Amino acid sequence: MSVAAVAKLTKAEATRELGRLRAEIARADEAYHAKDSPEITDAEYDALRRRLEAIEARFPDLAEARPIAPGPAGGFAKLTHGKPMLSLENAFDRDDVERFFQSVRNFFVRPEDVARVERDAIRLVAEPKIDGLSCSLTYEKGVLVRAATRGDGAVGEDVTENIRTISEIPPKLKGEAPERIEIRGEVYMTKPDFLKLNAKLEAEFLALPAEKQTKNRRRQFANLRNAAAGSVRQLDPDITRNRPLRFFAYAWGAASDEPEGQWDFYGRLKAWGFKVNPLAERVTGIDAALARYARIAEERAELPYDIDGVVYKIDAVDLQDRLGFVGRAPRWALAHKFPAEQARTRLNRILIQVGRTGALTPVADLEPVNVGGVLVARATLHNEDEIARKDVREGDTVVIQRAGDVIPQVVSVLTEARRKAAKPFVFPETCPECGSVAVRPEGEVIRRCTGGLICPAQAVERLRHFVSRDAMDIEGLGEKSIGEFFADGLVRTPADLFKLKAGMLDGREGWKEKSIQNLLGAIRARRKVSLDRFIYALGIRQVGQATAKLLAKHYGTLDAWRRAMEAAGDPGSEAYADLTSIDQIGPSVAEDLIAFFAEEHNRSVLDDLARYVDAEPFVAPSARGSPIADKTVVFTGTLEKMTRSEAKARAEALGAKVAGSVSKKTDYVVVGSDAGSKAEKARALGVATLSEDEWLKLIGG
Ligand code: IVH
Repeated sequence: MSVAAVAKLTKAEATRELGRLRAEIARADEAYHAKDSPEITDAEYDALRRRLEAIEARFPDLAEARPIAPGPAGGFAKLTHGKPMLSLENAFDRDDVERFFQSVRNFFVRPEDVARVERDAIRLVAEPKIDGLSCSLTYEKGVLVRAATRGDGAVGEDVTENIRTISEIPPKLKGEAPERIEIRGEVYMTKPDFLKLNAKLEAEFLALPAEKQTKNRRRQFANLRNAAAGSVRQLDPDITRNRPLRFFAYAWGAASDEPEGQWDFYGRLKAWGFKVNPLAERVTGIDAALARYARIAEERAELPYDIDGVVYKIDAVDLQDRLGFVGRAPRWALAHKFPAEQARTRLNRILIQVGRTGALTPVADLEPVNVGGVLVARATLHNEDEIARKDVREGDTVVIQRAGDVIPQVVSVLTEARRKAAKPFVFPETCPECGSVAVRPEGEVIRRCTGGLICPAQAVERLRHFVSRDAMDIEGLGEKSIGEFFADGLVRTPADLFKLKAGMLDGREGWKEKSIQNLLGAIRARRKVSLDRFIYALGIRQVGQATAKLLAKHYGTLDAWRRAMEAAGDPGSEAYADLTSIDQIGPSVAEDLIAFFAEEHNRSVLDDLARYVDAEPFVAPSARGSPIADKTVVFTGTLEKMTRSEAKARAEALGAKVAGSVSKKTDYVVVGSDAGSKAEKARALGVATLSEDEWLKLIGG
């Protein structure tokens, strides 16, 4: 391998070396995962990877979505998206829509920017939100080379061969094509095709010998989205080929050349040979967007495919880029959902579930009912106050609703249909799983089991969370198996997973040699995970994915984070001040973090886990080579050229941490007009202060 400094490489050299590195990495991956006999050491492998990443960071247009690991034998390989696949912020009524655009409007300050985003002037594309499976298709020099599902947004499944069987997806772009582009859209199925497919599956099922019919019970698809997703995610592309799949294109990911506008891009998509939803329209102003929504809602029932709302996208790409995203959703797009679908049914019983933090959650066990194409048998009742407020009783007839992906809810009770004998529900004051007292602190709505470590329900839920897709993402370990492994004493803590051996699973019902090997492979593949995933996987109260990312970004390594959390137990400490200086981390989250680390058991779980899992230091993806990567910045006073929100978004996109208060660890304080004590504190501590112009110069305008 060449050891020339990355900064000195010419593009031609970089291209050659990238080719070589990718081949070496692929060979090493193959040896490690498929043959299970590594040919190079972990350190050598890491060095290859680091070099590849460094070169790609310098020449982003040479970067590619690459397989990060072949899937377990018989599964899908994983593909890293060139740019993350985002989700969308939801709006449920006009007020939500108005608020969303108000926040866009407030993002800007200069009159020429503001004029473009005023309520009645903003230019948008409005189009149906398709209920299917989103996919990202990579074209190089106009040729389809890879296709991936969305997965967790950063990494999806390699479904290239299956996607190639869909006739609405061009294998080659017509006309002039960019060097490289990821094209995104929705694979979906039409209603008539769906009915035909289900009828065919039913016929095939009935043609099976009787003893096989029971095992194949779930042959029909519950709805159009499942049918599309299930058909794409077939291990045998020939099955996919015979499924009537279609595709609407609507976005781009990494691209060697960006379009100027969303609408302009749709023109290009059509010229390349894609279908763009014919109901997509460019509109000016929010009223026109809402009118478009109303029109599409009227047409919804007649459409041959399922839609669940209307997506608004700001047309101008320069504004899209400046707005960026927050968490997993762009600030420049919104999904305006159609109202929830409702149905009535009988509530048989109220069950109490115990979550991983001990919360007791009431769940309605329902007489199964079809709500907008999905069979619903459970609905949430939220908490004990909600049950009392709605006066929900066992045996009642209730109205339930579901909207999009959210859990179905009990909306109201039809009291006139109530039987005389129905008694008000008494919420238990002990944990139904371990019998410990369940307490409800004053001012809180949630009652919690105090059993902590002795409560099996909490332990199992923590394990489920640990392996779940957004956490450690260990495939092949369903909720049921975790419960069984726990009950049998095979896996009690997260680290126990890494101690599993084939011999411990042999002979278990439902486990064959292949599924055991797959599971062990999936666990092995998770010995390296990003620090933010690792933090999230611990299941600390109030530490969701976004907070886990903030922590990973702020502390960098597992060791540093852990040391800081233990030191932060003293509220007078610098570690505590540092923790709460992280934007969006307040005293309440800090308290939960400290409480987690104060628990001896949690510390030993961490010690144990650290022996198996290597939590990789956090690297902000686009930030390598940025002048402010890893720097801590504080903004104070009024900025003239951009709002505080935009300044913060820009700084974060460039890999900086934005803090709310000045400390010795601050690298820059950007001082606007009328700045107060923070500017003084910076000077007192000797922290560099910059004017807004100096700041813009530093980050390149
Ligand atoms: S745009 C950055 N347009 O909805 C925005 N998404 O809830 C990229 N979806 O994961 C998405 N129809 O898979 C866009 N016309 C449409 C869509 C659409 C369906 C899906 C998409 C996304 C999800 C977000």
